[in-house]
Amino acid sequence: MEHSIESEPGEAAQRLLRLAANGRAGQWSATQDIDWRRDPRLPIWVTRDQARFAISQLYHGEMATAGMCRKLLSELEAGAARDCMAFQLADEMRHAEVYGRYLDRLGGIAPMEGGLESALEAAAEGPAGTLGAMVAFNVVVEGEVLRLQDTLVEFLPCPLLKQINRLIARDEARHVAFGRIYLTQALAALPPEDRSRLYDWVHALWHEASGSTLARRSRNPAVRSVLRKWLGKGWRHHQAALDRIGLKPAPGRGSPE
Ligand SMILES: [Fe+2]
Ligand SMILES: [Fe+2]
Repeated sequence: MEHSIESEPGEAAQRLLRLAANGRAGQWSATQDIDWRRDPRLPIWVTRDQARFAISQLYHGEMATAGMCRKLLSELEAGAARDCMAFQLADEMRHAEVYGRYLDRLGGIAPMEGGLESALEAAAEGPAGTLGAMVAFNVVVEGEVLRLQDTLVEFLPCPLLKQINRLIARDEARHVAFGRIYLTQALAALPPEDRSRLYDWVHALWHEASGSTLARRSRNPAVRSVLRKWLGKGWRHHQAALDRIGLKPAPGRGSPE
């Protein structure tokens, strides 16, 4: 399925043109723009393996998002939206490279968490063709990556990681903006039933992924309660982002927690 909004010379198309120009201008170097003379610095209450595990999930998220961008690139018509996607692909590859390099210093990349793995697989096979996958990646996967980054910076006050995350967050802000403009237009063209079906699918995807993360992690009730709260906050965050692009539960059904 091909989506194009370039033919509509409206405000959205202008904003996409500006975003593509920002994407071009915002490319940075994984080797030169980060001060690799520094080593990771972990606080005493975080083990090397805990840090390695958490940052590896960010690495896997970046790799999966890059794969999704590659797939979507082949389906977009030439124009500003395709340019944005091409710069996003370059960004995600650079992010994965930088996290990989940081992880080398912690002992290498740890395997993907089971919940994340099944969520990423399901996200790639959404309803409404590539639009579903785009919603899942743009809103849920990238939203989670940003949340995890914020949490990590709070708990791992490592200057090197902070510098990495600052550069990455700048790129991610462009990706979020791209998704918001592109998806708002593309979703508006769908019948309301398809839009609420898409909302339900994203919600189920989130529920399953967060449920399995909770089931696999610590049995310690205090840790579980913190994690449950963190996950609950996640859904509210994604729900607001879905609402902004025009996805909400079917009228009269309210919104499930
Ligand atoms: Fe990224
Ligand atoms: Fe991104």
